[in-house]
Amino acid sequence: MKVFLVGFMGCGKTTLGRLFARRLGWPFLDLDLEIERRAGKTIPDIFQQEGEATFRKLEADALRSLEPLERAVISTGGGAPCFHENMDWMNQHGCTVFLHLDPEALAARLAPQAAHRPLLRGLQGKELLLTIQNQLEARHPFYRRAKFVLDARKAPEVLCEELLELLFAKGL
Ligand code: S3P
Repeated sequence: MKVFLVGFMGCGKTTLGRLFARRLGWPFLDLDLEIERRAGKTIPDIFQQEGEATFRKLEADALRSLEPLERAVISTGGGAPCFHENMDWMNQHGCTVFLHLDPEALAARLAPQAAHRPLLRGLQGKELLLTIQNQLEARHPFYRRAKFVLDARKAPEVLCEELLELLFAKGL
């Protein structure tokens, strides 16, 4: 079984993913790192040199390359569910989990990192919040299709146990 963590940048997918994988004794994979490894360059470089459309194609290819994995916890980039039918693919090939967080909390978490994130372009304050609100609204229809939703305001340790219970209830 593959567990795919989805949600906006900064919602804590990687932190929870690592913790949950350790708890289960399963491998953990970060799709962004997988894209970088396959492309031989960083995500900001891919965006800058080749544009978002190429990044989205690399992202979809990297995701599908994970098909042979039998058991893994996979954290995906914030935009991954919204392109190339990736959400359908993840729902067909594993269990999807959406980490929900409101725009204000996301803005607070992302403010110190906005300079390094290609889609936030160094935005701050009101502009950052507005961008997050708009992107979140556009992405919600995709995130909403996840099998489970977790409240990402909770501590990763709490979310880890909640997720374990949800998956066990489904006969993991
Ligand atoms: C993106 C999120 C990033 C990364 C890329 C694009 C997005 O991943 O894939 O910068 O479109 O929201 P994280 O959500 O892991 O930060």
